[in-house]
Amino acid sequence: MSIKIALLGCGTVGTQVARLLKEQNDLLSARAGAELELIGISVSNLETQRDPVIDRALLTTDSRALIERADIVIELIGGIEPPRTLVRYALESGASVVTGNKALLAEHGPELYDLAKAANVDLYYEAAVAGAVPVVYAVRESLAGDSVKAIKGILNGTTNYILDEMTTKGLAFDEVLATAQELGYAEAEPSADVDGRDAAAKIAILASLAFHKRVSLADVDVEGIRSITSADIEAAAKNNFVIKLVATAAQTGGKIEVRVAPTLVPTAHPLASISGSFNAVVIEAESADRLMFYGRGAGGTPTASAVLSDVVAAAAKKVVGGRAPQEIVLGESEFVPACEAVSRYFVRLRVNDVVGVLAELSRAFADSGVSISAVRQDSDDESGRASLTITTHAATAADMAATIESVSKVSDVREIVRVLRVEDE
Ligand code: HSE
Repeated sequence: MSIKIALLGCGTVGTQVARLLKEQNDLLSARAGAELELIGISVSNLETQRDPVIDRALLTTDSRALIERADIVIELIGGIEPPRTLVRYALESGASVVTGNKALLAEHGPELYDLAKAANVDLYYEAAVAGAVPVVYAVRESLAGDSVKAIKGILNGTTNYILDEMTTKGLAFDEVLATAQELGYAEAEPSADVDGRDAAAKIAILASLAFHKRVSLADVDVEGIRSITSADIEAAAKNNFVIKLVATAAQTGGKIEVRVAPTLVPTAHPLASISGSFNAVVIEAESADRLMFYGRGAGGTPTASAVLSDVVAAAAKKVVGGRAPQEIVLGESEFVPACEAVSRYFVRLRVNDVVGVLAELSRAFADSGVSISAVRQDSDDESGRASLTITTHAATAADMAATIESVSKVSDVREIVRVLRVEDE
């Protein structure tokens, strides 16, 4: 038996998928229980220079004709269109689809899951979240006997690399971004990464899987890392925290909270030690307790590893029949209103170093019901000013906003420099 595979897109990941499908064909076919045959690669330009590993005879610009001949379609084009139209066409044509397209799933997942169900085929997307890290499989299948309470992850390698360089070398955000772009670590158009949308799409996918509720990109409260300065990082370090872009999905009392935000992580927390462009995901499950996954979230061969595991799974299903684990939706999604979200906070201030300023500040916190857990003051004798950092116990966003409003009215407060969330141990 032969399973016909169509590849849409031949960029960094597509090239590695084609190479590995050729070089590892015996092993992958043995695992699938059928010969895996790459029947074509659709590209937008036939003339583009490509890795010699790509058999040019397989290239075509006619995606639809290629899809019509395939049992499995691998979509690695990226973006919403044309992938949305082509994935729909593939599912309607009776092919199972493997995609690494997080934006497509986070924005249009439900229509694609519904189409796959109607056509009795499968939609796989391990590569869409954290590249090589097998976290989609873990949440959907390994934890099928458990109940996930929360997922916290570093799901974007570019921003982790930038924050890590800022932390270890004391460099400014713009400086690190420019170098990362020169070295090809960051995209020329970096906003999906640095403004948090890439991580948001990934956490929306994980939240949907974990909580069996539909969570889309629009449901995620997103904040990126552009405003983070070396001074923020230094102040965090003095308080034993590192700043990470943390993607969080949690469910309490049936309500879901999904967020991406620069967050102070205690140095003892497992996410604090994730350096460079690596990804990591911590899952808190009812019975299993805390689990952690770590690895490469991007790159040609790491992402190809995830794509090919899906190809093998999809092919094996074609051989034995039936469908893979499907989307399970248990009722409407109910979200925690932003003002009711609870977190610890870190407030960085510049104040006049005078008698009573701390007393007035602590009153502002107390009056809004926000409890302080730590205060640190660094005085600058020459300017007569002091840098203050105040870490709080858990508070709602509404109470914290009221506190900041009161703090801004304290006459000896010169500047409220930054307010950031703090992760628990
Ligand atoms: N650009 C992403 C990252 C990888 O930096 O992690 C693809 O989602």
